[in-house]
Formats: sequence, structure tokens, C-alpha cells
Amino acid sequence: KPMMLADQYGRVASDLRVSLTDRCNLRCQYCMPAEGLDWLPNDETLTDDEVVRLVRIGVEHLGIREVRLTGGEPLLRRGLASIIAQLTALSPRPRVSITTNALGLKHTADKLAAAGLDRVNVSLDTVDPETFAEITRRDRLDDVIAGLEAAKAAGLEPVKINAVLMRGLNDEQAPKLLAWCLERGYRLRFIEQMPLDAQHQWNREQMITADEIFEILRPFYTLTPSGRSRGSAPAEEFAVDGGPATVGIIASVTRPFCGDCDRVRLTADGQVRNCLFAREESDLRSALRGDASDADIAQRWRDAMWIKRPGHGIDDEGFLQPTRPMSAIGG
Ligand code: GTP
Ligand code: 5AD
Ligand code: SF4
Repeated sequence: KPMMLADQYGRVASDLRVSLTDRCNLRCQYCMPAEGLDWLPNDETLTDDEVVRLVRIGVEHLGIREVRLTGGEPLLRRGLASIIAQLTALSPRPRVSITTNALGLKHTADKLAAAGLDRVNVSLDTVDPETFAEITRRDRLDDVIAGLEAAKAAGLEPVKINAVLMRGLNDEQAPKLLAWCLERGYRLRFIEQMPLDAQHQWNREQMITADEIFEILRPFYTLTPSGRSRGSAPAEEFAVDGGPATVGIIASVTRPFCGDCDRVRLTADGQVRNCLFAREESDLRSALRGDASDADIAQRWRDAMWIKRPGHGIDDEGFLQPTRPMSAIGG
């Protein structure tokens, strides 16, 4: 019987986010610089077997029920389909999803669905090709759109879209992006940008807030609270023009939801992060590569969760951005 991943504030983590690589084939301005970053060396990255073992321990010993594979860009991981097949064969079977930029998904969506993948979330901040190239520094909007269509055709639904708005870049295109998603049946969520960019250029005044997102959409759409309670999900859902379609807003900064957090993260190099904004990590890779038993690893993992802080602390005096950027944490 699992002894859960609990912390001192009564929260229990059952949603595991696993970063499979810190590499990416886009260079989104809010994430990394044009030249990329110093990627993790291969020998420090968990192997497929190591990833599967850790998730198995999470499922069998710690009550993990949801697994989200992230990056960097998870589709760059060669063994992705095999990892998914092994995770969905665990008992009890966790729900398995990925968060991806969708480049190349056109060629792999069927294979991933066949491996047992349940859902995909796709990062897409604009449907204007020029703005896309400006934000991501790559001219590949067509590939993303093809990937989205392939995901839907493969039954990986509901397909959700994540959009980060940036002032003067794509903020005014928000209504157009929503219209585009509504037409195609994708569930759009707008995200407040968090201080997790590798360049440390985030500042609160530049950030487009949830309130501003409402103001931008209001002339075009009527948004009403969906009435469904958010639970531990980061997005607040709003019915669009009376529904049934919805749009979500993830207001991590101005309306933090840390009190309901049920997440825990594993980095591509095998460190447990109890929060996106954690200041310390717990090294499971060295335990894996030593001769620790499953029970030993599970106990290390519980110890790492127990010390989770109550909140992200972005508004605290002396807030320090984590040294690991978003692309190495997995979002
Ligand atoms: P769903 O299960 O489909 O709702 O997934 P999700 O929204 O939890 O995951 P996704 O990877 O699509 O993340 C969407 C946005 O939510 C990203 O900007 C994440 O960084 C953010 N997010 C996810 N988990 C957390 C969290 O624990 N805390 C905060 N502050 N933001 C989070
Ligand atoms: N703040 C908020 N969300 C971000 N993402 C990437 N960087 C940031 C940031 N600094 C989003 C991407 C992706 C998800 C995992 O996180 O849009 O969809
Ligand atoms: Fe790649 Fe995601 Fe970072 Fe964009 S936000 S550069 S898609 S890891």
C-alpha cells in the first residue's frame, strides 16, 4: 500500500511531471536564448530504464496516478514511444500525457497513441507565421499545425493548447488565437509568464496578467466562470459565449494555486524537485546508480517532498529565480 508523497502543509502529490530532456528544437524568447543552453551531458541524463524504474516506484510505492512527460522537447527523446508503452503497462496504470511543441508530432502521433499515450498539450502562442518565427526564432508554424491535426486524428483528446502572451508581441492576437482554437476544437489556456526564463529577463511589469487577458478578450467574447471547481488543476476555466466551449487562464503569478498543488517533478538528470520554484533538489540518480532498493529510493523521495515550501514566493522580498530554467525543469 503506497505511503503518499505528503508535505508539512497537508498536500499530497499524485501528479508526476518527468522531464525527458532539456534540449529543444525551438528557442522561445520567454524560455531560452537564441544560441540555446549548455545541455546536460548524455551520461548525466537518465536512461529509459532508469526513467521507467523511477516512475514505477512512484506508482507502486508513492501513489502517483498521473504522469506528464515534458522537456525541453519530449519528442526529441528517441525512446519516447517505448517509455510510454512501459509506463502504461504499470499497475495501477497511470494516466500518461505529454506537453510538447508538436514539431514532428505529425509523424509520431499514431505510434504514441498506440503505445498508450492518453493526451497531449501543445505550446502555441500565435497562429500568425511571422509572429511565430519571432517568438520561437524558427519558421515552423506549419509543422506545429500539422502536429496538432495528427494528435486529434490519433484520438489524443482533448488536445489542449498553452499560450504565453508577451507584451507587444502576441498579446493583441489573443482573440484571433482563441477563434482559431474554437473552430478546431482545441482547448486553449492562456498562461501568465513566470520567472523561469534562462536569461532572467522576466519582470512583473512586462508580464501580461490574467486581468489583462480578460480585457483583451472582452470586446470579442463573453466569458463566464464555468462553475466547475478547479481542484488541483492550474487553469481556471471560463465558458465562451455561454459555452459549451471553454477557455482557461493559468494565473500562477497573480492568483497562485500553490495551496492546492498536487505535483512533483523529476528532472532529466534524475533530481526530484518538489516545486517549479524549489531551491533544493534531491538526487535520485546517484541512488539509482548505487545499489539502493526501491524502498530506499521511495523513502528519499518522500523526504524530498516533506520539505516543500508553502508557495512559490514570487512576491516575497528577496525572491530568487531558480537556477534551473524552465527548459530543464519541464514546466
Ligand atoms: P493538464 O492536466 O492538461 O491540465 O496539464 P497542465 O496544465 O497541468 O500541464 P501543462 O504542461 O500543459 O502546463 C501548463 C502550464 O501550467 C505551464 O506553464 C506550466 O508551467 C504550468 N504549471 C504546471 N504545473 C504547475 C505547477 O505546479 N505550478 C505552477 N505555478 N504552474 C504549473
Ligand atoms: N512561464 C510560464 N509558462 C511557460 N512555459 C514556458 N516557459 C514559461 C514561463 N516562463 C510554458 C510553455 C509550455 C509549458 C510547459 O510551459 O508554453 O506549454
Ligand atoms: Fe522549447 Fe518549450 Fe522552451 Fe519553447 S518553451 S524553447 S518549446 S522548451
